[in-house]
Amino acid sequence: MNYEPARLAVLDLEPAKSEFLSETISGLSRMPRTLPCKYFYDERGAALFQNICDLPEYYITRTETAILRLYAHEMAQCIGARCELIGLGTGAGTKTRILLEELEAPAVYIPIDISKQQLRQSTAQFHQLFPQLEILPLCTDYLQPFDLPSPVRASAHKIVYFPGSTIGNFEPQQATEFLGRIIDLCDKDGGLFIGVDLQKDPAVLERAYNDSRGVTARFNLNLLRRANHELQADFDLERWRHRATYNSAAGRIEMYLISQIDQTVHIANHEFRFRSGEKIITEFSYKYTPEGFTALARDAGFEFARIWTDEARLFGVFYFTVKL
Ligand code: AVI
Repeated sequence: MNYEPARLAVLDLEPAKSEFLSETISGLSRMPRTLPCKYFYDERGAALFQNICDLPEYYITRTETAILRLYAHEMAQCIGARCELIGLGTGAGTKTRILLEELEAPAVYIPIDISKQQLRQSTAQFHQLFPQLEILPLCTDYLQPFDLPSPVRASAHKIVYFPGSTIGNFEPQQATEFLGRIIDLCDKDGGLFIGVDLQKDPAVLERAYNDSRGVTARFNLNLLRRANHELQADFDLERWRHRATYNSAAGRIEMYLISQIDQTVHIANHEFRFRSGEKIITEFSYKYTPEGFTALARDAGFEFARIWTDEARLFGVFYFTVKL
């Protein structure tokens, strides 16, 4: 058995394989066919996503990181001393590290992510960087209700940090409900820092999701590879193509896997027939105006406090407090 040192132990509530199977079967059984994007992030998928973040066309990570580098000290002033920082989907932790370096005596850090491997690595790294910080990593699908671990150290207030514009991968209704649940995490005197991709020229968006090196295509197709490995499905990856298009009416990038021929795929005891050209929707990525996102957050119970953007207004980091 592999014993982890207690300080590095990840509270493991990773979704069971049976959930992946049932969500895959139900998503492929309805029209239009879908596969949930949260299953992109197995070990290979998480590594591919890291590669996407470094692509020249994928401006999101670069821009958000630059905003943090410029304004983390202002954000830290808004947050104040001795906070409990709850990081949602913080992955490798690059952006959180920039924020933590500016915070005044942060008490507790609770990184929450579906990728166990990344949580382990970032926790080990953060223990070295911030020896005074109590770190309580939690591996879970944070879309589902979950209980926070109980810190030993007292904090002044709770701040939720949700970077990367992952909120854009939710349908707006789901996003409002999710933000409503975040309010319960941060209490009345807490707040939310959230990274949101802003609306822009559709050509820029389509380039970002159809990169010239084919990394996003591999990331998308990895969902089928994962289903083959974990669910004994028989997708032939050569018979599927990646495509992402911008739907300007809905304000979102739509990512698909498109069947290249008429074909039949087996998963567990189920059989799925696909026509040539038929699509599986694998991800939506909504893009917001500052006003649009503020209205969505207000519906959830948040009060707009500040926004920091880059010069070209590609991306926004919002700070919301809880509406009293
Ligand atoms: C994680 N999420 C915010 C990414 C996005 O841009 O919607 C996922 C992604 N899909 C394709 N490229 C990146």
